[in-house]
Amino acid sequence: MMNYRMIENQDIDGVFNVDQACFKHNWTRDSYLAETKNILSNYIVAEDKDQIIGFGGFWQIIDEAHITNIAVLASYRQKGVGQGVMAAMISRALEKGCVRMTLEVREDNQPAISFYLKNGFTREGRRKNYYGNGIDAIIMWRYELG
Ligand SMILES: CC(C)(COP(=O)(O)OP(=O)(O)OC[C@H]1O[C@@H](n2cnc3c(N)ncnc32)[C@H](O)[C@@H]1OP(=O)(O)O)[C@@H](O)C(=O)NCCC(=O)NCCS
Repeated sequence: MMNYRMIENQDIDGVFNVDQACFKHNWTRDSYLAETKNILSNYIVAEDKDQIIGFGGFWQIIDEAHITNIAVLASYRQKGVGQGVMAAMISRALEKGCVRMTLEVREDNQPAISFYLKNGFTREGRRKNYYGNGIDAIIMWRYELG
């Protein structure tokens, strides 16, 4: 049974495992450890039979939720787990008083862009060369969370 819940200290290895399987960025295990201590941070994990198979996080900046990362292990994708993580993040953001949500996504990450469009985000801007090698970030916003 899939369970969506807030991160706990013992989840760091599981979350980092998902990170390593899904991203080429340079976050370390310590990055996630620091996230659990950051008062701005809110992380949700997706757990299947005691295994962390996905997660998503945002930083609360006043009344805005800024998504840091969201990822699901490849073998669990396109089964609604991402939707579950997003729904749990939105509930948490609303509970904390956030009214909008934003993120940056690589312009060449079509699955993620489709995922965010499906979740009510729209393309609102671009950061040139944000990921190096001429790859821009698309800035997306969802202006209504409720
Ligand atoms: C983005 C990601 C988290 C989506 O997770 P997921 O569990 O596969 O998503 P879901 O199964 O809940 O899909 C929800 C919707 O997203 C869209 N979507 C997801 N994967 C897609 C794909 N490969 N192609 C097109 N649309 C896709 C669809 O609209 C889908 O709705 P549908 O099932 O009704 O068609 C996942 O692809 C992932 O981990 N990618 C690698 C990490 C990453 O790039 N993260 C984002 C960086 S900011």
